[in-house]
Amino acid sequence: MTALEAIRSRISANKFDTGKPLSQHEVRELVEYAVEAPSSFNQQNWRFVAVTRKEAKERLKAVSFNQQKVADAAVTFIVLGDLKGYERMPEALAPSVKAGLITQKDSDAWTGMAAGMYAEARMARDEAVRSGSLAAMTLMLAAAAKGLASGPMIGFDPDGVRREFKIPERYLPVLLLPVGHAAPGNWPRKPRLPAGDVLRFDSGEGL
Ligand SMILES: Cc1cc2nc3c(=O)[nH]c(=O)nc-3n(C[C@H](O)[C@H](O)[C@H](O)COP(=O)(O)O)c2cc1C
Repeated sequence: MTALEAIRSRISANKFDTGKPLSQHEVRELVEYAVEAPSSFNQQNWRFVAVTRKEAKERLKAVSFNQQKVADAAVTFIVLGDLKGYERMPEALAPSVKAGLITQKDSDAWTGMAAGMYAEARMARDEAVRSGSLAAMTLMLAAAAKGLASGPMIGFDPDGVRREFKIPERYLPVLLLPVGHAAPGNWPRKPRLPAGDVLRFDSGEGL
C-alpha cells in the first residue's frame, strides 16, 4: 500500500476483532514508525503506554466514558506529550551529534533555545499536543499500511488516565489510540469538505 492509499483508506474504527491480538513485537513496530514523526528541535517529546492486558483495558475503558473500542482493540495506546521535553533534548539529540549531523554546540544551543521557548506553560502544552498528535497520526498511517484499524479518541478523563496508569505529572495525555484488526460494522470512509472550502492562497481573508 502506498502512503497515499493509506491516507485514503484509513477510517476511525469503532469495531475491533477481539479474537485477533497483536504481539508485543507488532506493537513495538507501530511505535517504531510513530517516532519517525517530526517534532520541534527533534525533541521527540512523545511517549506511549500500550495497554494490552484485558484487566488494564477494562480500567482504561472505565475512564474513557465506557467506549467499548478501548477494551476491544488489541492495543490502546495512551499517547503522551512531555511538557518538559526540552530537559531531555541533550539525550534526544545525542544520536544526531554522534552521526555528525549536528555539532555538540548546536545541540547545546537548541536546548537553550527550547528551554526559553517552552518555559511558558501554554507553549509547553501546545508543543506536547502538537508532537503527540503528529506521532499519533504517523502511527495511524503505519497501522493502515499494515492492514490494521485505529481510532483516535479525546473521549477520556485525563486525570483518571493519569491515576489508573501511573502517568508522571510531566506528561500530558494527548490522545487514546485503539489499534487492532477491524471487525465488521465500521463506518465507511466519511466524506470531507472540498479542498476549495478549506484552502485559501496567500491570505486567510474569506475563510
Ligand atoms: C482528536 C480526535 C478525537 C476523537 N475522539 C473520538 C472519541 O472520543 N470517540 C470516537 O468515537 N471518535 C473520536 N474521534 C474520531 C472522529 O469522530 C473521526 O476522526 C471523524 O469523524 C472522521 O472520521 P474518520 O477518521 O473515519 O475519517 C476523534 C478524532 C480525533 C481526530
